[in-house]
Amino acid sequence: MALIEFRGVKKAFGPKVVYRDLNLDIHRGESLTIIGGSGQGKSVMLKLLIGLLKADGGSIKYDGEEVTNLKEKAYAKVRKHIGMLFQGAALFDSLSVRENVAYGLREHGRPSEGEVDRAVNEALTYVGLPGIEDMWPSDLSGGMKKRVGLARTIALRPDVLLYDEPTTGLDPINTTRINRLMLKLKRTLNITSVAVTHDMTSAFTISDRIVMIRDGGVVFSGTPDEIRETRDPYVRDFIEGNAPHDEDTQTLLRSAG
Ligand SMILES: Nc1ncnc2c1ncn2[C@@H]1O[C@H](COP(=O)(O)OP(=O)(O)OP(=O)(O)O)[C@@H](O)[C@H]1O
Ligand SMILES: [Mg+2]
Repeated sequence: MALIEFRGVKKAFGPKVVYRDLNLDIHRGESLTIIGGSGQGKSVMLKLLIGLLKADGGSIKYDGEEVTNLKEKAYAKVRKHIGMLFQGAALFDSLSVRENVAYGLREHGRPSEGEVDRAVNEALTYVGLPGIEDMWPSDLSGGMKKRVGLARTIALRPDVLLYDEPTTGLDPINTTRINRLMLKLKRTLNITSVAVTHDMTSAFTISDRIVMIRDGGVVFSGTPDEIRETRDPYVRDFIEGNAPHDEDTQTLLRSAG
């Protein structure tokens, strides 16, 4: 049985249809990468999964449980298993690194200060930033912010990690660092991951499977080797960064500089 199942999911914002019929299975322990042009609904997919957005129709199951219409309190239980690294670092500027990493722990329970210290130290050490508890987000580089964001997420020991463009805006060294961290999480904690990225090098490095979304659904699903060999012209052009087929790709190419 798949850990996460999307079946016939529909989502629109007013006249703008994002998903007409989204079908996708995500298996336990799998590292899945979602690719697709800007505005195709990648971030929306992750938000549907953690319940920040509600589907208009269809079914989303987590570990066999229908979550599509769960009330907020019941959803909070599901969300405990799912960590998300948001697009942009999303740290609280008015909180120290320690309090940023501790945020979810305090939200989900009543840990003692000793437990908080231990969990924060462990999470920061895991991402290669031990001892920066007393620093403030404004003191950190973009790459460090991403890693602190990741530390905050893994402090909660999730079963599933959702990453929304974890390497966008980072230099090549920090990009490699984040990719290695994602691989380490998979190998050491057997985390199931769903990553959205525009960076095909990252996608090929970290994924067991790559899924492309376009026009409201999945148009390709395969291993990195399968996607390298596909004859589908749209998928080929996308992964090779070739001439744009439509406005979305043009936007993507412009934003990629
Ligand atoms: N809360 C919202 N209200 C209205 N429209 C929204 C909302 N969230 C997303 N959309 C629209 O849904 C579409 C898909 O958005 P989404 O953020 O998922 O794109 P994306 O694939 O993540 O793009 P990018 O690569 O630029 O991050 C876009 O047209 C966007 O404007
Ligand atoms: Mg997005």
